[in-house]
Formats: sequence, C-alpha cells, structure tokens
Amino acid sequence: MDLAAVFQGKQALLYMERYVDEGARTYSSLAGQTEAAPRYRPERDTPAFELVAVDAPRDRVSVFRADPSPGLLQHFVRPQGVLFAVHPETWANDAVEGLGDIRALPRTMPIRVAPTASTRTVLALEHPENVPGYFLKLHYPVRISRFNRELRLKNIHNSVAVSRDLANLQFEKFAYLPDTLGVAFRVNEKSWGFLVRETRARPFAAGRFLIPCFALYAGDLNHPDASPLLVQMIDRMAAEPVSFVVDRILAPVVECWARAARERGILLESHAQNTLLEIDRDCVPRRVVHRDFDVWVDPGARRRAGLGMPFLGRGMAADTDEAVRQHYSLVYDQFIGHHFFDYVAGVLKSHYGVDEEIVRARVREVFHHAFPDADRLFPVRTMFKFRTESPPNRNVLLEDMRQPPVWR
Ligand SMILES: Nc1ncnc2c1ncn2[C@@H]1O[C@H](COP(=O)(O)OP(=O)(O)OP(=O)(O)O)[C@@H](O)[C@H]1O
Ligand SMILES: [Mg+2]
Repeated sequence: MDLAAVFQGKQALLYMERYVDEGARTYSSLAGQTEAAPRYRPERDTPAFELVAVDAPRDRVSVFRADPSPGLLQHFVRPQGVLFAVHPETWANDAVEGLGDIRALPRTMPIRVAPTASTRTVLALEHPENVPGYFLKLHYPVRISRFNRELRLKNIHNSVAVSRDLANLQFEKFAYLPDTLGVAFRVNEKSWGFLVRETRARPFAAGRFLIPCFALYAGDLNHPDASPLLVQMIDRMAAEPVSFVVDRILAPVVECWARAARERGILLESHAQNTLLEIDRDCVPRRVVHRDFDVWVDPGARRRAGLGMPFLGRGMAADTDEAVRQHYSLVYDQFIGHHFFDYVAGVLKSHYGVDEEIVRARVREVFHHAFPDADRLFPVRTMFKFRTESPPNRNVLLEDMRQPPVWR
C-alpha cells in the first residue's frame, strides 16, 4: 500500500484492517488460527456481508451508554424497539443460547458491513446521513486466535463502563474509539449482544487519519513488494529512524498505557490491533488512538486513585499481589512488547540495520520515566505469558517465562 492512500479515509482504513496484516500474526502458535467461516474472514475478498437485524422490545434488552452521539442512539433505540444486530454465522448457529426467542422477533433492514482485523468487529458500510460512522462488535462464539469470541452482558457492560471512564483521561497523546452503546438480549446470566463503537476518535480533532498499528510494519497481501508504511513514513520525512519510531510511536504508546494504568487502574491491551496511529496531513504522528475496552481493571490502583469500581465481575482476575504482578507483565511485556514492539524493532533492523537493543534501551528509559513505581506492580526480574494450553475462555493460566524483561 502506498502511504498517500492513507488519506482516502474510510476505504483506506478498511483496506489496512483487511489486507495490511501479512506476517503480523506470528507472535504465538494460536494467533493465526480461526474457526470463523472463510467468507467472514477479513483477508478474504468478499467485499461485504449482511448482519441480521431484528426489532427487540425495549423490555427484553439491556442498553448501556457512554455518551453516544444522539444520531446513533436514535438509530438503535427506536420507538418500535431496539435494533438488535446479529452476525450471520451466529444467527445460523442453533447452539446459541436464546436464539429461538431472537429469531421470533420482527426482522428489520439488514446491515451491510465489512470485517476489520479482529473479524468479529465489523464496519457499517452504509448509514443514514444523521447517523455517524460506526463499527459493531458482535457475539461470535467461535474461536478466533486464542479465545472464543463471545460477547456477554458482562463484556458489554464493562466495555461501555471503561469507555465512560476513559473520558476522564486527559493526555495530549491519548485518544480512543469509544464503545458508546451496548445492547444485550436478556436470556439469563449468559445474555449476549453487541457493542456500537464510533469511528470518530475522542477527543475530536479535525484533519487526522488513522493507521492500525499492525499496518505500520506488516506486509500488504495484495502488494507483497511494497515497503511497510512505517518505512515509507520515515523515508518521506527523511527522519532518523530510531528517534522517529521511539519518540513518535513507541514512547506515546507506553505513556498512554502508563497513564491509564496508574491514574485509572485500566490495563489497556495496547497491542498492534488495539491501537491506531493518528497522523495529520503532513504524515506527522499526533496521537495513539485506542480501541477494545473489555480489559482488566486493577482494583488496587482504582482505590489508590480514589475511584470506584463501576465494573461487573471482580476486576482483575487476581486477588493476590503476585497475581496482579503477573497480569501487569502479561499486558505490557507480551501484548505491547512482544506482540507489537518486537515487530517494529524488526523493521528498523531489516530496513535500516538498526541494533534492536538500542531501541529497547530507549523504550526502557521511557517506561521507567512514565511508570516510576513499576517495580511495585511488575515482577522485577521475569515476565509472564499465557500457558500454551490455556483454555479458550478468560480463565487464564499464566506461566513464568524465567526471562528478564525486555521492554522495561
Ligand atoms: N497484528 C495483530 N495483532 C494482534 N491481533 C491481531 C492482529 N491482526 C489481527 N488480529 C486479530 O485481532 C484480534 C485481537 O484480539 P482482541 O481481543 O484484541 O480483539 P477483539 O476483542 O476480538 O476485537 P476489537 O479489538 O475489535 O474490540 C484477534 O482476533 C486477532 O486474531
Ligand atoms: Mg482487539
């Protein structure tokens, strides 16, 4: 892909989501696996497909809100009922709880969508003029990479609650795509539904364009000879590669992450699919835009910051200091360090002959500056990762890697 194409807006973003991810899912043996039917996978050339939509009576659904745009709220929460969207593969799956009740509801206009890199989050391709652009994150109970992609009431509630909470995080390099609306069909504790994620980053800034972070370093499936977008950016700006990458991309990711963790106890899973680089018309990186807020929350950090726990479940699935340290390590060392920064450093090495250790040393410095009390919350001398045989739900089993931290 040519860097100039990034400025083409929605179509360009969709192209990167679907096709500029080549070679980026090698961080674990499960990362490239999917049980989604081939026609719903992002990298396939099916241009679009339709979500099934029904009108659900207001008293049969729970609706969660984080300051949705009024046009979007009116589009989904209507006088005749709530527009309830279902992935076609979920709709066809007789094993899905409560589906009989949902299938009995009146059908409404299907929604034309295209998948993003996560497969179960899709972009709406058409919407009325008064409705702002949106993604839908769907209940899709098949295994995609490590996890079964269910979207239960708890996930919906917490994603919206974290979106609401992040409105309080003020940092000039931080922005986010909020899950402003969530709808769950009442079945029982296994209720499921969908999230509506707005395409416009908050806080709003005009004249900005998004690049999913994996598309900075991944290959383009359709143009295998094209240079990675990151290399095109560095060359276009005639920038010094290490300073450009550390100061403009990696340091902002670390700083945003440390702020959310320390100030709000929210452990953003800032890997390369959950972050997008926002650039201006001159290609200058301005902010890191975050998405996907079904994340762990550290109750201890919330308490220290004087904040409540408006989340369902027990926050971080950890009640000992040891378990908390393991989760901090998993999210920072693995999701950010290993699944994201390692690839960026690899591009610097392959295209500019940079010694990756120089990049790591610079980032370690940034990390300790942004997170001065890290040694209290992280395992100082080692890292944790998912156990290879982890179950596909979130009852995660972690294992001690017995290796010193690389990016902190
Ligand atoms: N380069 C990448 N790095 C990480 N994950 C990737 C990458 N490319 C595609 N993915 C896919 O994105 C998903 C990442 O999982 P994660 O739990 O962050 O997202 P999600 O909750 O399914 O959706 P969303 O991010 O839209 O809220 C997986 O399905 C994974 O296969
Ligand atoms: Mg994600």
